[in-house]
Amino acid sequence: MRLGIISALAEEQQGLLEAMESPYKLIHGKREYTAGKLWKIDSVAVLSRIGKVAAAVTAATLVEKFDVTHIIFTGVAGSADLGVRVGDVVVADSLAQHDFDASPLFPRFEIPLTGLSHMPVDRELSLKLSLATREFLQNDAQVHRGLIGSGDQFIKDKAHLMSLKEALPDLLAVEMEGAAVAQVCHELGVPFAIMRTISDNANEEAATDFMQFVQTVASRYAFGIIQNFCKS
Ligand code: ADE
Repeated sequence: MRLGIISALAEEQQGLLEAMESPYKLIHGKREYTAGKLWKIDSVAVLSRIGKVAAAVTAATLVEKFDVTHIIFTGVAGSADLGVRVGDVVVADSLAQHDFDASPLFPRFEIPLTGLSHMPVDRELSLKLSLATREFLQNDAQVHRGLIGSGDQFIKDKAHLMSLKEALPDLLAVEMEGAAVAQVCHELGVPFAIMRTISDNANEEAATDFMQFVQTVASRYAFGIIQNFCKS
């Protein structure tokens, strides 16, 4: 296995670069890729920046230029379900681009010519990641498995979230990159998993909650969960 690890922001990957054995850095396409060993796993870590295009180009580069065989995305998300609380983690079963709509040519959410609106994750990798997450979480924080929606929008308004939830009732969390990584991995045949810690409720307080959570908690989660994953 050569594992690609993507996060959008530095806080979502804090500590991982320091944990890397024999690291070497390479700049390509305005991103810095750090290759080395993480707890004996050959790894390449990179920050994608925010949004679907940024994530897609990063995932494709990891595969085509850095020869990764598996990809994990770790970061934060807004909750899209009452049962999913700040501090919980969602490990995706499938991902949809909630802002994709080529209707009436194709059904809403369907990615043309793939026949899919929900991109399935790699089951084995995602199971391993959710076990690593469960082992890490403390107190009453929970791991959820289900649908994550991605779009080029920071969701910060309850009415917007409700309209997404009406169209995608199984939605557990919203973020801005996962489904793009999913499409790239689907098209290139690369197993992948997406893990998101809930930072906010995608409502009017989302921006404040997000900023606070990313700085104080997100980094601890990514490091702890990836460490458990690599050691398992
Ligand atoms: N990432 C974290 N919180 C988010 C939100 N509310 N909308 C989109 N992406 C997010």
